[in-house]
Amino acid sequence: MGRAFVYVILGGGVAAGYAALEFVRRGVSHGELCIISEESVAPYERPALSKGYLLPEAPARLPAFHTCVGTNDERLMPKWYKEHGIELVLGTRVKSTDVRRKVLITATGETISYKILIIATGARALKLEEFGVRGSDAENVCYLRNLADTNRLVDVMQNCSGGNAVVIGGGYIGMECAAALVTNRMKVTMVFPEAHCMGRLFTPKIAEYYENYYKSKGVKFIKGSVLTSFENDSEGKVKAVILKDGTCLPADMVVVGIGIRPNTGLFEDQLQLDKGGIKVNGRMQASNASVYAVGDVAAFPVKLFGNEIHRLEHVDSARKTAKHAVAAIMAPSTGDLDYLPFFYSRMFTLSWQFYGDSIGEVVHYGDFSGGNFGAYWIHKGVIVGAFLEGGSKDDYEAIAKAVRSKAIVNNIAEVERAGIEFALRV
Ligand code: FDA
Ligand code: NAD
Repeated sequence: MGRAFVYVILGGGVAAGYAALEFVRRGVSHGELCIISEESVAPYERPALSKGYLLPEAPARLPAFHTCVGTNDERLMPKWYKEHGIELVLGTRVKSTDVRRKVLITATGETISYKILIIATGARALKLEEFGVRGSDAENVCYLRNLADTNRLVDVMQNCSGGNAVVIGGGYIGMECAAALVTNRMKVTMVFPEAHCMGRLFTPKIAEYYENYYKSKGVKFIKGSVLTSFENDSEGKVKAVILKDGTCLPADMVVVGIGIRPNTGLFEDQLQLDKGGIKVNGRMQASNASVYAVGDVAAFPVKLFGNEIHRLEHVDSARKTAKHAVAAIMAPSTGDLDYLPFFYSRMFTLSWQFYGDSIGEVVHYGDFSGGNFGAYWIHKGVIVGAFLEGGSKDDYEAIAKAVRSKAIVNNIAEVERAGIEFALRV
């Protein structure tokens, strides 16, 4: 025997918090909803972990960033879940599932059954071991996915005597952590295999701006290379990293951000998968009608891109897919999600936003030396993607609108000349 609920959310991250709020807004009854999370705290805004949490002065700490403060909505404290009759099962890992029988089994052997399941298991950080490197479990090597990881990173950083940090990976975690480490007076070297940082999104020209800015803050870049091994001291702590070409970099701490894998393992033989995630329709419903998937783990059709299936690893997508799944569950007339992909980052005093897709021809505009610049991606005669650094609220709304409305481009040179004005005129 075990517990039974109408709705179960598996995973207690960003998507779970936003789904819970939507359930309450739509009138879920006491005792109907349960959230199971391996983490020991109520859902929180994960982006804080690589930004406010790492500040040397007045760092962000829970309960300040529980969901849903990221969208200026209510901050859902553990008390809120209790008051709304939502069972928060924390510190509990689900180790197996049976979608046909609608049950989940926890690591302690408890059975939890559901009528409707929302999978919100997010993703895990890829380990260097998966690329053939050994020893990333040393005490001064840090990954960053959850609160426990970030507490460890802070601890390692604060007890780091030599001050040399090596950051492996030039993506989001690498860039945000490198900035945070510098702000904490560490000497940072970034190592990544691509020709420039943020290879998945930035053009070489955009990347050059950020790399120069980072260099002005003392960050060193080693591009086109990877770490092949660690050198350890007698206590097992890493003291240097060795790169592919034999370069030896002294390291008092190492931060690794080399991508993620969605947590699909519990469902791989039971649900249809796509793009490394659980395939869902526009209502976030999986190949089993009693199961929905949201957030990083969900691969869903993006209407704006002709219903092409995308899996997006970003917080805005987690929030909106979660809310949409709950709407679809509670109001059967709910149609398909019409999502505009949105990414952003903040580091040092810089801040950028991107909407849409980075395909087609790129047009850069603005002042690349003054930090007020952007780019449009043009495909088949319309704007499909837009990037902007240092914009105002109106500017960001304008670029979002230009992408959403597929603004027509008659003359590329004119778009380049007009820059942000092009979007503001849409
Ligand atoms: P999320 O990872 O938030 O939650 C998954 C939950 O499921 C976790 O609590 C996990 O423990 C739990 N779980 C998994 N398997 C389980 C099991 N078997 N049993 C029980 N529980 C289980 N995005 C962005 O757009 N802007 C930004 O600035 C940032 N910044 C950022 C910083 C850092 C450090 C990270 C790691 C990520 C970001 N992101 C981001 C990405 C963003 O945080 C991410 O897209 C969302 O957290 C995804 O939300 P989910 O709810 O899908 O997964
Ligand atoms: P990422 O996919 O952004 O970047 C991975 C990076 O790893 C690549 O850019 C590459 O440089 C590097 N890499 C790949 N293989 C490597 C290897 N063998 N050796 C060295 N480097 C290698 O992933 P991430 O930076 O780890 O971020 C993890 C997740 O967190 C992503 O889903 C990301 O979207 C999310 N995140 C988002 C934000 C944001 O949106 N602002 C901030 C932090 C984290």
